Amino acid sequence: MQNTSWVPFFPEQASSFAWQIDALYFYLLAISAFFIVVIVAAIFYFGVRYRERERYTNGAEIHGSIALETFWSIIPFIISMTIFLGGAIVYYNQYRPPADAMEIYVVGKQWMWKAQHGSGQREINELHIPVGRQIKLTMTTEDVLHDFFIPAFRTKTDVVPGRYTTIWFEPTKPGKYRLYCAEYCGLNHSGMGGWVYVMEQRDFDNWLSGNVSGQTPVEAGRDLFENKLGCASCHQGNDQGRGPNLAGVAGKEVRLASGQTVVADDEYLRNSILNPTGQIVEGYQPIMPTFKGQVTEEQLVQLIAYIKSLGGNTTTGATTRTAATNSSTMTTGSAPVNGGAADSMTPPKADRGSAVNNQGSNPNAPETRSEPTNTNR
Ligand code: CUA
Repeated sequence: MQNTSWVPFFPEQASSFAWQIDALYFYLLAISAFFIVVIVAAIFYFGVRYRERERYTNGAEIHGSIALETFWSIIPFIISMTIFLGGAIVYYNQYRPPADAMEIYVVGKQWMWKAQHGSGQREINELHIPVGRQIKLTMTTEDVLHDFFIPAFRTKTDVVPGRYTTIWFEPTKPGKYRLYCAEYCGLNHSGMGGWVYVMEQRDFDNWLSGNVSGQTPVEAGRDLFENKLGCASCHQGNDQGRGPNLAGVAGKEVRLASGQTVVADDEYLRNSILNPTGQIVEGYQPIMPTFKGQVTEEQLVQLIAYIKSLGGNTTTGATTRTAATNSSTMTTGSAPVNGGAADSMTPPKADRGSAVNNQGSNPNAPETRSEPTNTNR
């Protein structure tokens, strides 16, 4: 818990790698302090030692010293390499999320942060997480560039329009920590922030069960896919549809009509929805209409979460077949999508609904692997 009655020199260390960042930072400070002392001392020493004693004398000529030059080249080289190595290690640790991290989706928007948990809970300008768990945030933004910053965790990442970025951390201390937007994003940039609540696992479970507000991202995605957007009329979950079978496609290589092969990652799935003719799958016609402007970032996240949940077997894909009824929406691409987001602007406090406790222990829980969150529009 941050004490606000005084201004701390450093924010609290509340994540597993906070000490590494601080250690690196203090190391840089120590090196700087050391050289400040040495250089300032040398200035005074030489100033006195070689002061002008007699007017217009020439100093003795010096023709170089290999030993001295080697010394002042090697030492700074070693020092700068230790800085480089320290920085590289910290960076490497921080930018490779562990595969089994608990995933939460975050969408930035002027001027708020919206988060959605895999079990369906949504929050605005708040983030509840359990202590001691590795948390991965998959993030994007509905409008301009923002930057997700939690000083106590020593972590900070841009959220970029049209892209997914990730950040991960492992909170080590229960408490309440500041969350900021750290990139100027318009009039109310300074107000774009909130709190991160790090809770004991038991408290987090309680919080989760008391805050279910509707569908999980996968369920919402299925609803969009099968009903609201009518995707299922062409993507039928078999190879007979006008569009490719999407079961098991996530994370796999896809052969395109152009002969290229791409990996169907989040970015690819997103682009295929917004710009379908950009990368046509081999054997299919470029007939899919764009959904740009019709789906929000949150809905994209839900669709991708759903597609990822389809897995490789046909049993899951079969559910998509049932929805092939509204084929008209496919050709026009006009289905408006307002997936039940109306309530999403309100903080989730009062939402009491069915309890869903998805602690990510379910290996089939696809929601642990989906995208950013959003709440609404
Ligand atoms: Cu969002 Cu600054």
